[in-house]
Amino acid sequence: MAAPRSKTVVIGVTGSIACYKACEVVSALRKLPGAEVRVVMTRDATRFVSPMTFQTLSGHPVYHDLFDAPEEWDLLHTSLAAAAAVVAICPATMNILGKLAHGLCDDLVTGVVFATKAPVLLVPAMHREMYAHPTTRRNLAALKQCGYECVGPVHGALACGVVGMGHMAEPETVVQAIRRTLAR
Ligand SMILES: Cc1cc2nc3c(=O)[nH]c(=O)nc-3n(C[C@H](O)[C@H](O)[C@H](O)COP(=O)(O)O)c2cc1C
Repeated sequence: MAAPRSKTVVIGVTGSIACYKACEVVSALRKLPGAEVRVVMTRDATRFVSPMTFQTLSGHPVYHDLFDAPEEWDLLHTSLAAAAAVVAICPATMNILGKLAHGLCDDLVTGVVFATKAPVLLVPAMHREMYAHPTTRRNLAALKQCGYECVGPVHGALACGVVGMGHMAEPETVVQAIRRTLAR
């Protein structure tokens, strides 16, 4: 009997201090039976965590440039988008939320989101005032209307030393949300 086909989870990592938590998410997902994890990053995300870290944790090449010549994919953003059973942007910056809410498609992460038919999960992480800003509220409302689901953020300690809303949901919560979406 043929082995069941594995499901591809694409994680889009953007430039937040919470990038290190995406490492735990990728590591946990890789241990799930029947799941393949692919990571794409924004250029600024690579300033927080090296692509090599995600490459090692996911067991696959990691790209961050829309114009990278992929070794194993024909057209990077469209083939990743087509392969995805779920796409999760983790962490999701204020910047990426703005770009997605306004149809700006100028990097690999936005390219994958706009080209996929798979469910999209957003895992916002940002400073309390940025999360409370009317622009972020509007962008999140528009993205929910597009059918995107938000995981977090939660109330907690923020990198700048204050406590408030904007702390990224815990990796375990993100993994559970991805598993629920895969099961649907
Ligand atoms: C130390 C540091 C931490 C940052 N953390 C966050 C963050 O948690 N959330 C956020 O929205 N932006 C954060 N930023 C700002 C983003 O990195 C910046 O807006 C960047 O342009 C986002 O690009 P991207 O969305 O293409 O990855 C941080 C910047 C620095 C220097």
